[in-house]
Amino acid sequence: MYQILATEGKAKRARLETVHGTIQTPVFMNVGTAAAIKGAVATTDLQEIGTQVELSNTYHLHVRPGDKVVKQLGGLHKFMNWDKPILTDSGGFQVFSLAGLRKIKEEGVYFNSHVDGRKIFMGPEESMQIQSNLASTIAMAFDECPSSVAERDYVRKSVERTTRWLKRCKTEMARLNNLPDTINQHQMLFGINQGAIYEDIRIEHAQQIAELDLDGYAVGGLAVGESHEEMYHILDEVVPYLPQNKPTYLMGVGTPANILEGVERGIDFFDCVYPSRNGRHGHVYTNHGKLNLFNAKYELDDQPIEEGCQCPACRHYSRAYIRHLLKAKEMLGMRLCVLHNLYFYNHMMEEIRDAIEKGQFKEYKAKKLAGFEETT
Ligand code: GUN
Ligand code: ZN
Repeated sequence: MYQILATEGKAKRARLETVHGTIQTPVFMNVGTAAAIKGAVATTDLQEIGTQVELSNTYHLHVRPGDKVVKQLGGLHKFMNWDKPILTDSGGFQVFSLAGLRKIKEEGVYFNSHVDGRKIFMGPEESMQIQSNLASTIAMAFDECPSSVAERDYVRKSVERTTRWLKRCKTEMARLNNLPDTINQHQMLFGINQGAIYEDIRIEHAQQIAELDLDGYAVGGLAVGESHEEMYHILDEVVPYLPQNKPTYLMGVGTPANILEGVERGIDFFDCVYPSRNGRHGHVYTNHGKLNLFNAKYELDDQPIEEGCQCPACRHYSRAYIRHLLKAKEMLGMRLCVLHNLYFYNHMMEEIRDAIEKGQFKEYKAKKLAGFEETT
């Protein structure tokens, strides 16, 4: 059940009850594509950095180790030792960004595995079956994410097919949730809005998918090359057409500033590889902008990454030490940076939730954005 606890303008403070526990929103999901958060972060670390939802990918886990293997081992929760909510992306997006030699047909997508080149077919039914085998809390619909520069005519046809695929996803998910050997018979399904930067196509699509009474609604196909202003404009236009009594999810977004703008426009769920990817490169987030710990100015800096930060890196280690680890290519350097960055994102979401409850989100957002602009 989804319950809105407070609002400020379009910004929502809500909670979503799932079989794996309650998700407090707005939330940032921590990306562990292949059932692991890159940077040697274990699921036993996640409590300490405030993770609520872990996100994995259908495509990657289907290719390796195989969803049937995961099912035999009791599902993804047991496999990776994480009992809180897991969202799985459907594979559509990853097939388009990773796999070779794709062929899109009405029935689904034919492609070659990026691991061993083997030929694979994935359509809406296969994506639902794989996600059911993984037994995630929330499954995403199988969609096509057209390029941000795709022509209008292509986008219109693609979106129509994505709607037909969504209906097939819903039917297949209902069937799977009723099978006796399904691990999670309460698996939720979120639909995905597409339409590139064509607002009329997006709105029409949003209206069509809103009728399907899904568990939640995502906005996909953004942060794929368009400007931030175009992305914010699409959100301004489209979010009002998604059901207000269901959670919303802005896929693959983004920077802390993008998230603040998304929350202001009514988004509940976010995910992005930035905190883990940047952490692995020694780039760490602070309330006064991002730092590059490889920079020589941190050689003798015995301060934590951010004063007052309660993450496992800042509570115990200095910038100078972490810089040394990074330069010496010690894995611990990456790990500490990733832990700090994920904590930073998760903690910001907690502050956002507090601010909306207190009716102070607007002030909070302005102050936060001003801090990010500072040069350190
Ligand atoms: N992740 C980021 N964008 C998208 C999208 O448009 N579709 C899917 N399935 N996943 C995404
Ligand atoms: Zn920290």
